[in-house]
Amino acid sequence: MAPIVEVLATREDLIQRASDLIQGKIQDTIETQGRCSFALSGGSTPKPLYASLAQTGLPWDKLHCFWGDERYVPGDHPGSNEGMARQAWFNQISIPPENIHPMPTLQGDPAVDADTYEAHLREFFAVPAPAFPIFDIILLGLGDDGHTASLFPHTEALEVNDRCITVGNKDGEPRLTFTIPLINQARSVIFLVSGANKRSALAAIFQEDGDSNLDRQYPARFIRPQGELIWLLDAAAGEEG
Ligand code: 6PG
Repeated sequence: MAPIVEVLATREDLIQRASDLIQGKIQDTIETQGRCSFALSGGSTPKPLYASLAQTGLPWDKLHCFWGDERYVPGDHPGSNEGMARQAWFNQISIPPENIHPMPTLQGDPAVDADTYEAHLREFFAVPAPAFPIFDIILLGLGDDGHTASLFPHTEALEVNDRCITVGNKDGEPRLTFTIPLINQARSVIFLVSGANKRSALAAIFQEDGDSNLDRQYPARFIRPQGELIWLLDAAAGEEG
């Protein structure tokens, strides 16, 4: 399935479009399947999106939220992706606590916590190894170096193809991350990208040719889901020149 690319004039338009699109997907998925599994992105771009989603009247008891990656810090740490989403979204709505599935980061060993989250996913989706669970929606951001989730350039995490969750490495800082094969199983993968600092990475990612080394340099190139792939960009990120 060819990627869908939408370029919105402003960051505000981008967030509004993302909110409308994701709301619709969550609603449709709940209507057809009875529940929706949504993996959140971290970083700064999605924070206003989460605040917008908090204003909707979605059936929160049918939505299950996960994280596609997490810094290896407690949930109340300022760098926590979980903490950001709780503050912007979940603290503003009445969603059953068991519907929020944060990545564990407290066992002192990222590999142990990665195993714990992997087991949790397999139990939730009732999908034993070696199959991969199928998320309904995975939201991803893009770093200006071409990373996504915590899949950083030329790191070991890019080679992991027999697990759902692995340990990412950002300049020596450990992170938990979805693996490429898990992301690529999703029904819908949505990239949310804002800002001129992402332009050069986007140009490399959308380059048609390119060898596996280019993929390792710009890991978002590895994201080719079996479902749909949607890129939502603002003009600052997505326009040439
Ligand atoms: C994280 C994210 C990461 C993020 C990109 C873009 O934990 O930081 O998951 O992949 O999406 O780095 O971050 P910004 O949205 O802050 O530019």
